[in-house]
Amino acid sequence: MNVLGIESSCDETGVAWVAVEGPGTPRLRAHALHSQVQMHEAYGGVVPELASRDHIRRVLPLTRQVLRDAGGTLAEIDVVAYTRGPGLAGALLVGAGAACALAAALDRPVLGIHHLEGHLLSPFLAADPPSFPFVALLVSGGHTQLMRVQAVGRYELLGETIDDAAGEAFDKSAKLLGLGYPGGPALARLAMQGVPTTYGLPRPLLHSGDLDFSFAGLKTAVMTQHRRLGDAPTLQQRADLAAATQAAIVDVLVKKSLAALHQTGLDRLVVSGGVGANAELRQRLGEAAARHRLQVHYPELAMCTDNGAMIALAAAMRLQAGVERARRDYAFDVRPRWPLAQDGEPPDPPGERPGIR
Ligand code: KG4
Ligand code: ZN
Repeated sequence: MNVLGIESSCDETGVAWVAVEGPGTPRLRAHALHSQVQMHEAYGGVVPELASRDHIRRVLPLTRQVLRDAGGTLAEIDVVAYTRGPGLAGALLVGAGAACALAAALDRPVLGIHHLEGHLLSPFLAADPPSFPFVALLVSGGHTQLMRVQAVGRYELLGETIDDAAGEAFDKSAKLLGLGYPGGPALARLAMQGVPTTYGLPRPLLHSGDLDFSFAGLKTAVMTQHRRLGDAPTLQQRADLAAATQAAIVDVLVKKSLAALHQTGLDRLVVSGGVGANAELRQRLGEAAARHRLQVHYPELAMCTDNGAMIALAAAMRLQAGVERARRDYAFDVRPRWPLAQDGEPPDPPGERPGIR
């Protein structure tokens, strides 16, 4: 079975071809990605209307590139998958529209995929894939969640952020420090030259006893500290503040991940989403894993941020596991706000057509 997947939920257009060849993990045959980062940079963040228009421009050329790189043709595609949500409504509609039109023209079924499930399963494309069950730490620009993952489609939310996401904390702090968009990688680079203990920043909810996160207060503390540095902080002061910010975010993520493993009795952690690319987070989790004899799995670095491969993979794994069937129903909709279903329920109950939310 060959699955073509299209991702367009935010500022990256991704297309990929994943093949299911027996009971093993599906294989990535080719993927292509266009990042809109440069286009949005001038505005300091994603401009939704520009994002939608750019997805329209990119989706077909990227699809052609994937077919070329895979050495295959559209006729070989059995299912077309797309990101149905969560994300920017206009951006999602481009991928959904393209996928459904393509599937209708090919007379093939379609499948709408939850973006976070894509992130969650993306480590299965890595050289060292995890096995079920595991605890997932999902850290992206819009989400920070800890989940117990029992099997494909069986996700139980253990804790999540009550305000800003970890990626948002990186991005907003980076903005305060005068760094570009997206702020996470830029802040991480600056932090490499800094001393994290120079400034004391809060670790919100570190000792709350539950698995929830809160990062809004940290952003305020960074702002206050930055103001104290006056109008012309030195590079070293900015680097120290960046390092302190990163350390505060990473501390909380590591501590709560370990608590989630302890609470569930599991010894495998899977980290995914854009912030999973953070080197400091990886190092700290690596040290904790060695100390507590845990396994930590990540997607390949290039697959941490949004891409089409994770969407094609999630579709392939759902179909393979029999938790869902693709349908010849081309009346597509998108779900900009969409919690990842819990405990075995498929995210889209049959017959439900929730419309655009
Ligand atoms: O998963 P993703 O590509 O998009 C969403 O679904 O949100 O995550 C993007 C987020 C951004 O907030 C970005 O700043 C952050 O991931 N990010 C990083 C790093 N690379 C990306 N944050 C910290 N360190 C990084 N190296
Ligand atoms: Zn994402």
